[in-house]
Amino acid sequence: MLSSYVVPAFATIGVCSVALCAFNLTRWAYDVFLAPSSDAFLSKFRGDWCMITGAAGGTGRCFAERLAAKGLNLILVDINEGAMEEMRRSLRALFPSVEVKTLRLDLMEEMRVVEGNLKAFMQDNGIDKIGVLLCCAGGVVSAGSLCHALLRERPLSLLYRDVQYNVSSTLLCCSFVLPYMKHNGRGLIMLMSSMSALAGLPGSPEYAGAKAYLRLWTWSIEEELRRDNITITAFTPGFITTPLCQNLRGPICATPESFVKWALHKCHRGPICNPHPKHAIVEAIGVNILGIKYMRQQAEAASFEIARRVMSQKQQQPPSKNGPVLVEDPREKERILKAAQKRSIFFWPMTAG
Ligand SMILES: NC(=O)c1ccc[n+]([C@@H]2O[C@H](COP(=O)([O-])OP(=O)(O)OC[C@H]3O[C@@H](n4cnc5c(N)ncnc54)[C@H](OP(=O)(O)O)[C@@H]3O)[C@@H](O)[C@H]2O)c1
Repeated sequence: MLSSYVVPAFATIGVCSVALCAFNLTRWAYDVFLAPSSDAFLSKFRGDWCMITGAAGGTGRCFAERLAAKGLNLILVDINEGAMEEMRRSLRALFPSVEVKTLRLDLMEEMRVVEGNLKAFMQDNGIDKIGVLLCCAGGVVSAGSLCHALLRERPLSLLYRDVQYNVSSTLLCCSFVLPYMKHNGRGLIMLMSSMSALAGLPGSPEYAGAKAYLRLWTWSIEEELRRDNITITAFTPGFITTPLCQNLRGPICATPESFVKWALHKCHRGPICNPHPKHAIVEAIGVNILGIKYMRQQAEAASFEIARRVMSQKQQQPPSKNGPVLVEDPREKERILKAAQKRSIFFWPMTAG
């Protein structure tokens, strides 16, 4: 008697669950591979000024090339003046109708100095409108073996540098461009968060925390900006093969070129977007199937590998001003080397970049 109710009830629940899973999977696949591209949206910004911070770096440089190809005029902002100048010349040669201006700026300077420099630059160049802001400057200032040192061993000044580099400088640039975007009548802001905002990054907790801040900040501010016809999107990529992560290679790493292609393909979708299919698959499997803990183990493996690479470089060349700071303790170094060796075998086979 009872089974005549129980069996159909369980069967209905089963069918509904399978249907729901199928629906979610289809929606996810559509979103990752098929949804309409941002081309029409981006074409509205043709001829507008686009400010890119960290423009001379791996990802920033690729963005600059693609955006110039789409007819946007560029304001390149970076600490590396030589690389920017070389970029300016090659962009002008490739896209003669596009204007390219450069501003050498250290985003780690005091905020009022950075803001003063930006203001002076806009005045000197007679620019009163901006259409697009892309905040690419960011990364792990404390990369290397130091990040594997215990919290109490890391100098406070260094803890704060990751926050300033990734969060404070980004907020400053966003608030700086707002009046210029309002004047322009439309705007697009693209920020670089990271997948580490979801799973954490053992070894670089300040970096992961800063990227999580950007992710939630973007969620929270999206509505407010929309009223002024400004779209904001925070990208949450996994590993990209740039100097920031010591050119790590591996099946789930994306090249800067392919990442930027996908990012611009989806930039209007906001507020949070993990654009590259490889990264989106890792995120989906990590979050829904294997669990965040597994993702964190993967991130840790990569982080030990990065530390190992930084340490081996250190023996060959002196550290730069903004470069990694290393723990000199030989026992600590040995621990990192062993961990990198062990974990990259078990979790993440990578070949040298
Ligand atoms: N690469 C990844 O795997 C990955 C993953 C997720 C998210 N992201 C995020 O994506 C963004 C771009 O990453 P990326 O790999 O392209 O970085 P990158 O190769 O390190 O490029 C960063 C650029 O910013 C410049 N820069 C450094 N310090 C600066 C300062 N104080 N002021 C102004 N510019 C400064 C760098 O110049 P120098 O070369 O002279 O230092 C470089 O040109 C970052 O926000 C990063 O956190 C990257």
